[in-house]
Amino acid sequence: MTSNALSKFVAKPGHVLVTGGAGFIGSHTVDHLLARGCRVTVIDNLSTGYRANLAQCEGRADFQFIEADITQDLAPVCECAVKRFGAVERIAHFAAQTAVPLSVEDPVMDIQVNLGGTARLLEYARRNGVQKVVFASSSAVYDDDAPVPVSETSTARPASPYGIDKLAGEFFLDYYARYHGVAFTALRFMNVYGPRQDPSSYYSGVISIFLDRAVAGQPITIFDDGEQTRDFVYVTDVADAVATAALSDAGNCAVINIGTGIEVSINRITRTIIELTGSTSQVRHEPPRPGDIRRSVTTMTRAEDLLAFAPQVDLRDGLARTLAWVRGQALANTRRGSAA
Ligand code: UD1
Repeated sequence: MTSNALSKFVAKPGHVLVTGGAGFIGSHTVDHLLARGCRVTVIDNLSTGYRANLAQCEGRADFQFIEADITQDLAPVCECAVKRFGAVERIAHFAAQTAVPLSVEDPVMDIQVNLGGTARLLEYARRNGVQKVVFASSSAVYDDDAPVPVSETSTARPASPYGIDKLAGEFFLDYYARYHGVAFTALRFMNVYGPRQDPSSYYSGVISIFLDRAVAGQPITIFDDGEQTRDFVYVTDVADAVATAALSDAGNCAVINIGTGIEVSINRITRTIIELTGSTSQVRHEPPRPGDIRRSVTTMTRAEDLLAFAPQVDLRDGLARTLAWVRGQALANTRRGSAA
């Protein structure tokens, strides 16, 4: 759980609030923060997160879960956690409506949850002396006109309300840093994958869907010709970057792309998954998904310079680890089914 990043910066354990901490990336971040000696409070409304993602933390003296919505007044929500662990010093903010297509269908709801939630959180931070907020931003702030590879200085011109929320959230952070002294780091995640990514929705990440289908022997659908590319980064590398930014002054008041710098096609992902699983799944093609970008990969310079970020898990290893988790889930479901 350590990385190159840790050696360069002094980590400061303390009380960290993780919004959306029962979700995919949030729950891994909780694991990393606890491993670094923090006291961790999670706020999650369980709309897309699961208590099971935090099963390993339950009962710990340094961990508290609060079921609450990010659009509520956070002071009363956090009161019991503050009594128990002291004032919140740092925040990792993941809680959001995360489906890009849903944001297109219902932009008003999307803005209320995502931008409204971020504004509420920053007000809590300002009023309660929180030192730093790490924000889960997204490569969705870039569109198809962005250069390949994309850097933080490339023009951000979102192609969805979700991307607009994330970009506007970054401006909110900048404003609170300049006028209210709340430091921040905004991490623009590329395509994150790994254990605990839920494959069950139309909006799920491609790797989680394909692994799930391959293990079940069900057909795999590639939209378009499969030559579109993404930069897939393993979730524990991402969680490590979040924890590093949250617990130190690294990346203060900066926007940083988090990926691997490696561009991989969906066809290649499919071949590797079929090979790793030995699956007999049929692969079929459907027309491109509306709004999909063709190529996506990041430069690494800023993440390396500011966070000493160096991904530790390569794609093949990450897929193998994710596959082991998917198989474990399938087995647990079978056992639950036969016990019922
Ligand atoms: C992802 C993120 C999104 C983030 C965005 C940043 C997920 C679920 N979504 O969207 O939150 O803001 O990056 O750019 O991680 N595909 C198939 N078959 C499928 C599913 C997907 O071929 O069954 C293809 C898609 O058409 C796309 C690629 O796989 O070309 C990746 O899709 P997906 O995993 O949904 O991620 P993004 O659309 O890149």
